[in-house]
Amino acid sequence: MLLACCIPFTSGRADVQEPPHMLIPQPVSYQTQGEPFRLNSALDWDIDPSFNNPSLVLAHLKRWQETYALQQSDAAPFTVRLSFSEDLPAEGYKLHIEKSGIHLTAGDEAGLFYGIQSLRQLSWSSAPGDNTGITLPQVTITDYPAFPYRGMHLDVGRHFFPVETIKTYLDLLATYKMNRFHWHLTEDQGWRIEIKKYPKLQEVAAYRSETLVGHLNDRPYKYDGKKYGGYYTQEEVKEIVAYAAERSITVIPEIELPGHAQAAIAAYPELGCTEQPIEVATKWGIYENIYCPTETTFQFLEDVLTEVMSLFPSEYIHIGGDEAPKSQWKSSAFCQELIKKEGLKDEHELQSYFIQRIEKFLNSNGRQLIGWDEILEGGLAPNATVMSWRGESGGIEAAKQGHDVIMTPTTYCYFDYYQSVHPDEPLAIGGFLPLEKVYGYHPIPQELSESEATHILGAQGNVWTEYIATPEKMFYMALPRMQALAEVVWTPAEQKDYSGFTHRLDQHFPVWERMGIKGANHLYDAEVTIGTNDHDKLILNASNAMGKGSFRVVRTAEDIQEELDYEGPFAPESGHYTIQSIVDGEPRGRSSSITFYNHLLNGAALELTHQPHPKYNGQQPEVILNGVSGSDQRYGDSEWIGMEGDDLEAIITTLEPVEASSLHLRFFHSPGQWVYAPTMIRFSYWIPETNQWSVAFERTVDSSDEKVIEVKELFTREIKGQRFKLEVQNFGEIPHGAQGAGHRAWLFVDEIRLQ
Ligand code: ACM
Repeated sequence: MLLACCIPFTSGRADVQEPPHMLIPQPVSYQTQGEPFRLNSALDWDIDPSFNNPSLVLAHLKRWQETYALQQSDAAPFTVRLSFSEDLPAEGYKLHIEKSGIHLTAGDEAGLFYGIQSLRQLSWSSAPGDNTGITLPQVTITDYPAFPYRGMHLDVGRHFFPVETIKTYLDLLATYKMNRFHWHLTEDQGWRIEIKKYPKLQEVAAYRSETLVGHLNDRPYKYDGKKYGGYYTQEEVKEIVAYAAERSITVIPEIELPGHAQAAIAAYPELGCTEQPIEVATKWGIYENIYCPTETTFQFLEDVLTEVMSLFPSEYIHIGGDEAPKSQWKSSAFCQELIKKEGLKDEHELQSYFIQRIEKFLNSNGRQLIGWDEILEGGLAPNATVMSWRGESGGIEAAKQGHDVIMTPTTYCYFDYYQSVHPDEPLAIGGFLPLEKVYGYHPIPQELSESEATHILGAQGNVWTEYIATPEKMFYMALPRMQALAEVVWTPAEQKDYSGFTHRLDQHFPVWERMGIKGANHLYDAEVTIGTNDHDKLILNASNAMGKGSFRVVRTAEDIQEELDYEGPFAPESGHYTIQSIVDGEPRGRSSSITFYNHLLNGAALELTHQPHPKYNGQQPEVILNGVSGSDQRYGDSEWIGMEGDDLEAIITTLEPVEASSLHLRFFHSPGQWVYAPTMIRFSYWIPETNQWSVAFERTVDSSDEKVIEVKELFTREIKGQRFKLEVQNFGEIPHGAQGAGHRAWLFVDEIRLQ
């Protein structure tokens, strides 16, 4: 990433104020009054009888008391008073802590519960169970949520997680004041909820014969050959729903339709459109097999939803609606007949018909329908709530139509995306969603008027599990992005502060470890960037998210290895740099490496005939002249530029004339992702005397199975010039039978090294 000259960098010597507390989400108001004190006496309860059901809340308070083994002592008992107030917003609370007692006020049980969550977090600096009590600050906290819907999702279809893991997940949601658990229960790769009326869902749909190994984009496909599956019994579902309810969490079940239904159709082929027997899916992606809108299918779905509604008290039932290819409906005589009979325009309207029938059924049972944003296509069901995932546009459109919306755009809310570009990151689906980006999300789009904005109920983090096979990896992917989102949906936007957040968050990792779980702690990972200073000179900058400590820099080049003192950004020489954060004299976080090439085009002026795609450095194509190569594994980093279908035609002008003898280029090649090496390259230099381009070399490019195709060209004689032209011909149309057939290929190029 290029640094603007005037952005101050964090050198590690920044004087960071320790935060006054470690609460996440940051409360609306936090005021200390006096010094912290030690609490180690028995507790006395004083509970306002206006609360309907304080026993649940009391159970949580007693658990807190037991965690710290608060002892009976000679001192007078410490009173915890719970009082009711109509002055606080829904789910809000006021927590007053002083030496003589605690006073927690709320207008509902959820508010009481959240007050206790804050009390628990305030206690975390004390070791549990050591009989020495708890150190507490003397504070008054007034707090309430910014959004009523604060959700986390978990896909248990691609991988199945034990009941205990789900409970731990719910514990985390509750601790961070999130109140909806979206449980994605049915998928092409597995049906995970017991439905008594349809036993083959348990016998057949809950198991797949084997599972893809590696990424869906890898070729050839490899499988593990092991049967995989499982499902939650109705007793287990009840247990989880009750466990969630005790923690102020509503569980929203998702039963996918009409797509993502291959497992169900494998168990009951009559639900599909082709009458062909099929198997539960064994790899990821989107499948053509979808429910056929016959009366048999509607009967099945109504039976399933009837059992689902008996297990889940949630007003909302999620019915999916995403990624339902229509090819089988197009070639089905039944579907085409139905389209005619119902006066529908096309298959999209047929999907809308399908969903509206399901909505009527849910509404007649007092429930509301939620669907992914594809349910807008072909017309929205009258009372539907939309979950906007393909960006925010679906949510904006739905809100403008007067429908409620939950924001889950991939760009901010998909926690199955990579959270770091570090080469040690475990395999993920793709994308890049670092913590700071999640934290920077604001769920209300600017396009909405004030009254339309009231339809945005909140946001949700999604944890899709194609590449998440274990609880350990699931927590690694979810934490700490869940905490960033918790603050997005609870704390008023104007009070958010990323630096404050990271300093509070830093203290949560040891608490999770006490719970037996590990989040992804990248707060101290060294981050290295090459940018330009105000004299257009390339400089290397080291930082970490905490802005804490100093850095150890090791440079390796040919036969030298040297350790350099880092005293701020510096102009690097060619070489491989490894940079490590040092905090209190010890290495912290992961080190980071960068290979820098001092070459003749470093920092030269660049003009492109076609701009790269905005997602792939379209705004800063100069990265191909900054001396740094892209990743050998991913084209989505900050060093590759990506052309969607276009050729690359670059004119590069150096400050002074240069003499060159070789050119080194690299191209990403990943046909499964529509990315192809080019077919032809031409490199020319400008001869001012004749006002003409002279071709230094022209050649074809052969691709191989490698992900990065290198081209190294030694010129037959040295060339001298100040203006150069590089023409790289896009592969062109993707051939029949390949992923993306018929589309033009992507072309990815990184550093253009002229030497
Ligand atoms: C989705 O990610 N297919 C909703």
